[in-house]
Amino acid sequence: MSKVVRFGVSLDRELLEKFDRLAKEKNYTCRSEALRDLIRRELVQKQWENNGEIAGAVTLVYNHHKRELVNKLMDIQHDFGKTIISTQHIHLDHNNCLEIIAVQGSPEEARKLTDNLSAVKGVKHATLNMSTTGKEIR
Ligand code: NI
Repeated sequence: MSKVVRFGVSLDRELLEKFDRLAKEKNYTCRSEALRDLIRRELVQKQWENNGEIAGAVTLVYNHHKRELVNKLMDIQHDFGKTIISTQHIHLDHNNCLEIIAVQGSPEEARKLTDNLSAVKGVKHATLNMSTTGKEIR
């Protein structure tokens, strides 16, 4: 466990007021926790930029009645077997499926997987949630 350090920050009053308002809107009970989360967010972004080891989730919404669509999605997922750690399939209604694909590994592979899946005809929406393994973030 690393030591907690206190430090002072000089800030324009207006900027601090905006920060406090934002923190309140997001239900933070103190500035420190709001600031810690801002820093963590930047660090996670850096991991993605620097090609570090990342974790995240791809979410897909598609109509499973489209011809060949499910097979194509499956082929792509088999090609990314090293990156995909888990998948969950939810039947939203008679036509639409939601798939959540958990990924761990290189940011490049996670992006490539997302791009390949979203390019399949019939995929209505695809997003990549860029998160972290948590290893280098306290
Ligand atoms: Ni389904």
